[in-house]
Amino acid sequence: MTPKQQFPLRDLVEIRLAQISGQFGVVSAPLGAAMSDAALSPGKRFRAVLMLMVAESSGGVCDAMVDAACAVEMVHAASLIFDDMPCMDDARTRRGQPATHVAHGEGRAVLAGIALITEAMRILGEARGATPDQRARLVASMSRAMGPVGLCAGQDLDLHAPKDAAGIEREQDLKTGVLFVAGLEMLSIIKGLDKAETEQLMAFGRQLGRVFQSYDDLLDVIGDKASTGKDTARDTAAPGPKGGLMAVGQMGDVAQHYRASRAQLDELMRTRLFRGGQIADLLARVLPHDIRRSA
Ligand code: IPE
Ligand code: IPE
Ligand code: MG
Ligand code: MG
Repeated sequence: MTPKQQFPLRDLVEIRLAQISGQFGVVSAPLGAAMSDAALSPGKRFRAVLMLMVAESSGGVCDAMVDAACAVEMVHAASLIFDDMPCMDDARTRRGQPATHVAHGEGRAVLAGIALITEAMRILGEARGATPDQRARLVASMSRAMGPVGLCAGQDLDLHAPKDAAGIEREQDLKTGVLFVAGLEMLSIIKGLDKAETEQLMAFGRQLGRVFQSYDDLLDVIGDKASTGKDTARDTAAPGPKGGLMAVGQMGDVAQHYRASRAQLDELMRTRLFRGGQIADLLARVLPHDIRRSA
């Protein structure tokens, strides 16, 4: 058994994140505390665990993969800091705890978000066991996912663009899908997968983003604070063009749309890359095929 196999995949992520976070407060302890609160708080770690599961089913998990998975979780945590701020979704609770700006103030929350992103890029630029060429490609992949053709654009559309059926998928691709796609693209870079397999992974990541964001929007209506760790019933009450998927249809239509896109995701998993069943089990836990109130 290799050292990596002694730990469940989630533990590999938590252990490495805890190690990385040791540097957060070396100059400013309060900045480090805000970064640690955001990055180490009890999220699902869905993106990271998914990446490592796919890595396992294509040969095994290596240090560079763990670094890439942690970088994705750090960027994700930063995106949540910004998303919760009063100028965006104005949310006060995240992962069952006060949102970063509530606990640490807005100024420090902004700095913590930026510092988490820059640390994530450093981790990718120095990914353990990766070649210089791979490191450069990891940084490029993550940069593309975050910037003006990625998450920033998606969040801008979420805040300002009117919602319609076509626009919502574009918005989901940009604000949510890009991070799944980048995570899987980085896996392909580290594993040296061929073009066809890389395309399969990225198509899966795109569809996963749509399903994931749709279910998150549904949870805002059918979920509760105890299970989601965040305030619910906010999207539909949001002023202006916000409101995610709920802004484009009635609950019944939205649920139907979710079921159809969830079924499409299953179709995209019928490849060698998802063999073994553990990925399907993870997905079924996080993205149920059926929709229940208080999920
Ligand atoms: C929440 O993501 C933000 C969305 C893209 C919908 P997660 O539901 O993965 O949040 P955590 O990481 O588990 O807190
Ligand atoms: C956030 O979407 C997506 C991000 C890129 C942060 P939401 O606004 O729906 O996510 P929650 O519901 O606050 O987690
Ligand atoms: Mg939000
Ligand atoms: Mg939401």
